[in-house]
Amino acid sequence: MILETIEVGGCRSYVLGCPKTNIAAVVDPEISAVERYRGVAAKHGLAIRYAVDTHTHADHFSATREIGKALNAQVVMSHLSAAPFVDLRLDDGDMLIVGDLRIHAIATPGHTADSTCLVVQDHVFTGDTLLIGGTGRTDLPTGDPDKLHESLFTKLLKLDPATQIHPAHEYKGRIGSTIGEEIRSNPRLQKTARADFVEMMRALNIQAPTHLTEALRVNMSGKKSVAQLLAEASASTPFMSMTELSARLAARQNDLIVLDVRERDQFDAGHLPGAMLLPRGQLELRVNDAFPDPTVRIVAVCEFGKISTFAAATLRSLGYMRAAALDGGMKSWREAGLAVEK
Ligand SMILES: [Fe+2]
Repeated sequence: MILETIEVGGCRSYVLGCPKTNIAAVVDPEISAVERYRGVAAKHGLAIRYAVDTHTHADHFSATREIGKALNAQVVMSHLSAAPFVDLRLDDGDMLIVGDLRIHAIATPGHTADSTCLVVQDHVFTGDTLLIGGTGRTDLPTGDPDKLHESLFTKLLKLDPATQIHPAHEYKGRIGSTIGEEIRSNPRLQKTARADFVEMMRALNIQAPTHLTEALRVNMSGKKSVAQLLAEASASTPFMSMTELSARLAARQNDLIVLDVRERDQFDAGHLPGAMLLPRGQLELRVNDAFPDPTVRIVAVCEFGKISTFAAATLRSLGYMRAAALDGGMKSWREAGLAVEK
């Protein structure tokens, strides 16, 4: 088996390939690493046909849907997963055939209700059910410490002790653990009695993940994160630098409109010389009156440079093909000591 580990922050994902048929699966892919999976696959001459999530992630954005669309791969998850875009849903005991590789699914609820571990040869991809020196938490939506105890002690830890484990998270850079090693040294697995284990899990006081609600929303629906929306808006919009705009305003060329899309009170507190105010929230409904000439050159400005990017993208999608956004916002403009009008 070809096996590559891809790290993104504390997240680990894996490309598993069959060397004979050149077919591969990616396990727990993360949205910012899509090009890396493609690169790994290309390096080994593999075609990624399956994008598998071991569970509904609450702490990062899954790339299964993206990979499914981009590479025409099947999106695979548990039959209990909420995501509507899953092509193939696995039940306990099901097997996924990837070329000559046999990937066995073991339902291991506990970290989440849809948690599934994947056994391939002498490897197990444990998701967040079992980590190196830890276990997944059980305090997030659908988590259940009782079920995690059962999944670990009656299922996962019954695998051959030599089985190598590959978790979805590792924050300390450790590699190369086995089921036997974890049974021996993992502090969480020393509480073997159910009541003790449950008490220990309930007593853990772990911070909520940074993107909890957004990651759950995006991973469960297959829709977009705010960062993705902003990246798409940026990709469809040209920008103008502060130096360029400042020079053009100083030269009074009068060949462009500076459109301030903030609210009235922010505008009144200081804006670019000659700027016109049209808050982002009113843009679509007032644009026909504000800009009767579709060939006009517009540079959108906001406080931090994000809302103006959305505004410029909206204007372009409405047919104002010379709309752009300032690279930066009023905050950077003021900090650079450039001209402000009140
Ligand atoms: Fe997780």
